[in-house]
Amino acid sequence: MLPLPRPTRRTALKAVAVAPFAYTFTSAARAADEKDKPKIALVGCGGMGKGDLKNASKYGTVVAVCDVDASHAAEAAKPYDGAKVYGDFRKLLDEQKDLSVVINATPDHWHTIVNLAAVKAGKDVYSEKPLTLTIDEGKRLVKAVKESKRVLQTGSQQRSDKLFRQACLLVRSGRLGKLSTVTSVLPAGLHGGPFKTAPVPKELNWDMWQGQTPTTDYVPERCHTNFRFWTEYSGGTLTDWGAHHNDIVLWATNQKGPATVEGKRLVEPVKGGYTTPSEYEITFTYAGGFTHVCQSTKANTIFGSKSDKPVPRSQTDHGVKFEGANGWLFVTRGKIEASDPAMLKDKLSADEHKVYVSDDHMANFFDCVKTRKAPICDAETGHRSVSVCHLGGIAIKLGRKLTWDADKEEFTGDKEANGHLAREQRKPWTYDMA
Ligand SMILES: NC(=O)c1ccc[n+]([C@@H]2O[C@H](COP(=O)([O-])OP(=O)(O)OC[C@H]3O[C@@H](n4cnc5c(N)ncnc54)[C@H](O)[C@@H]3O)[C@@H](O)[C@H]2O)c1
Repeated sequence: MLPLPRPTRRTALKAVAVAPFAYTFTSAARAADEKDKPKIALVGCGGMGKGDLKNASKYGTVVAVCDVDASHAAEAAKPYDGAKVYGDFRKLLDEQKDLSVVINATPDHWHTIVNLAAVKAGKDVYSEKPLTLTIDEGKRLVKAVKESKRVLQTGSQQRSDKLFRQACLLVRSGRLGKLSTVTSVLPAGLHGGPFKTAPVPKELNWDMWQGQTPTTDYVPERCHTNFRFWTEYSGGTLTDWGAHHNDIVLWATNQKGPATVEGKRLVEPVKGGYTTPSEYEITFTYAGGFTHVCQSTKANTIFGSKSDKPVPRSQTDHGVKFEGANGWLFVTRGKIEASDPAMLKDKLSADEHKVYVSDDHMANFFDCVKTRKAPICDAETGHRSVSVCHLGGIAIKLGRKLTWDADKEEFTGDKEANGHLAREQRKPWTYDMA
């Protein structure tokens, strides 16, 4: 190690004179910097919420967390000194006047009410996917985000992944020739039951957890994590994973939505068990002249059946395949393949093919909070992508071919199908209250 130089009288005096100033300057700068950082609150402190918050905390200061399960809220607050803990997002929004960002990682049936309340209170929002529970919710949210001039990023993070962007560029550039078929493969959902009721855990506000959905006795399998396999709260993997892979279908093909849809469950649910389709196949046609088949993998190839608990998902079985006159392309998380591998070496310009470039979904959101530009997966984008999934769910329920007008966002001349665009809300929860 090199010996440290001995301080001379001159350097010692200089250090004494400068040090207090330097200290004052850096702490003042740090305080100013801290003051300018966006203040962040998390609503919905489950697995995804905690992950999103950790990611978001790189760009701002966490001031509050909120959950209807007090144990989840307490756990999420732990890493953040001074973060206030709430059990009701309305109180949080009311009290946290300096708040600028809400991370919404509640279950799907809560996304829209929390998002509407947040944007109406002037907050920017990072909302988890699937953005909505119904198509009607999406229309309301898009309008509210526009009117309030807020930034909303949907958590369909495959938009900020370079392999999915590359696939999108290749399809848009016409490298595959005229597109004939797109296949999105989604993991099969859980299939199981019947389940028993149980006493409500003391830390959980079960009535508020259910929110706008019909009230029912507490069943643990309806609540944390597995809520996504019940039609009251979600659309199953069709919306859970469809909000990722069907989003890529719309992005690559530059479409607003399909023209027709028909679909079926491949396995009937168990009475008293999970209600969302576990295995399914849906066929969409698009004005662009191609067919989109959205199908699940076989049950239990991704999720374990024996324990009825999700097991780690394979990163390879699901994904999106594009087939055209000149070849095919398959993309999934961490992998892209093509009939002609040379195609994958092509340098394509995002500008030329009008593709938004983001390499980090959360960073893109906070950048837009600063610049007020639209993020890569804004409310309209998130709404349109999950609408494809909702349309599939409605077609499965009705068991017939439906015709969709993507501009008007309604089924053509079909009162029965249009009746499924919205759902009844359990009082006191309404969109207008937000
Ligand atoms: N982007 C992704 O890749 C990705 C991955 C996983 C989950 N998600 C999404 O994140 C969301 C949450 O999923 P999860 O797996 O973390 O579920 P989870 O059940 O683990 O967490 C949800 C949390 O929200 C709480 N909650 C319910 N109602 C609330 C309310 N009104 N106010 C405050 N908190 C409330 C629950 O008590 C729970 O703690 C889902 O919409 C899911 O689709 C996205």
